Amino acid sequence: MKKRIGILTSGGDSPGLNAAIRAIGKTALATGRIDIIGFRDGFRGLAEDRTMPLVWDDLMSLLTLGGTILGTSRDKPHKMLVDGEIRDMTDVIYKNYQRRQLDALICIGGGGTQKNAWKLVQKGMNVLTLPKTIDKDVGMTDITFGFHTAMEIATEAIDRLHSTAHSHHRIIVVEIMGHNAGWLALGAGVAGGADVILIPEIPYDTEKIAEAIRWRQQRGRPFSIVAVAEGAISIQDYTILEEMKKRKNAAKGVEKEKIAAEIDLFEAGRLGNTQRLSQRLEELTGLESRLTILGHLQRGGTPSAADRLLATRLGSACVHYFEQGLAAYMIAAKGEVAEPVPLKDVVGQRSTVPLDHSWIDSARSVKTCLGD
Ligand code: F6P
Repeated sequence: MKKRIGILTSGGDSPGLNAAIRAIGKTALATGRIDIIGFRDGFRGLAEDRTMPLVWDDLMSLLTLGGTILGTSRDKPHKMLVDGEIRDMTDVIYKNYQRRQLDALICIGGGGTQKNAWKLVQKGMNVLTLPKTIDKDVGMTDITFGFHTAMEIATEAIDRLHSTAHSHHRIIVVEIMGHNAGWLALGAGVAGGADVILIPEIPYDTEKIAEAIRWRQQRGRPFSIVAVAEGAISIQDYTILEEMKKRKNAAKGVEKEKIAAEIDLFEAGRLGNTQRLSQRLEELTGLESRLTILGHLQRGGTPSAADRLLATRLGSACVHYFEQGLAAYMIAAKGEVAEPVPLKDVVGQRSTVPLDHSWIDSARSVKTCLGD
């Protein structure tokens, strides 16, 4: 009797997703013992039982393709908008899992997906996961696929911005994705030789940034590249936010909800901070400043060789672990090894840049300003 595996991709898309689908599919089909089926648009497709057949021909020409042939969404199994109301769809999902006679479900996604997959494990489903995100913020794995490609794109963007900033004697502030982790901005900033790198892990002082730019001006370099992670935060905002979080932790019931809403409002008000930073730097240095937001460019297009390799390694290893009977694990990248980590240990573990990380040391060594 053949086994059956379902696959879905969830959360923001990321280069390497199709490479992973191909690796899982080809490895499974090549055994002759396993059939696979795709679910469309993440957990929503699983709840709505919208599937896509995955036979050998469907898995060809996928390695280099950006995005995900399955589609994706940010829907959560336990909090899904259905007919205008938020519903817990885990029972429906469980029924679909049984109706499709699945022996396992492979969920490919970032931190949120790991949490959602754990919810399905708790319902009694056999779930394995792979870590993907351009943010590299999933815990318990060295790296996630998508990160390397996004870092290449952001680095190339910084390279290109350098020549125009140089020609016009301008500051160019470049906003880089990464959610609340600074890996992408730091990696691309160091690789692209940004003069200033701002990451959420190090709250910044705008005066210090201006000082670093003036220092370059005095040395005949009246232009600077400021690489800013989208989650970067000023010391002032950080202090306010920390105080709010403390109050929220101490509060209960309605009061707690009220402070949570205040925090959301404050965070929403921080959107556009990069534009304000760019304007402030213009005032403080007398140099013209321009803002470039790289946005979804960083997630699109063909994956790098490193991401294709990583997605293929993790995808095929996942099928081998399934055949060995593993359930409720994320297949993590630990050096060159694809290592299974219990899903319960991954949930809620966000990886941010440790302050003593070697990339930070390297940036400081070459006199890159980190805003502190
Ligand atoms: O998690 C990946 C990511 O690209 C983050 O870097 C970014 O904050 C977020 O997704 C953007 O999400 P969306 O594509 O839903 O706007």
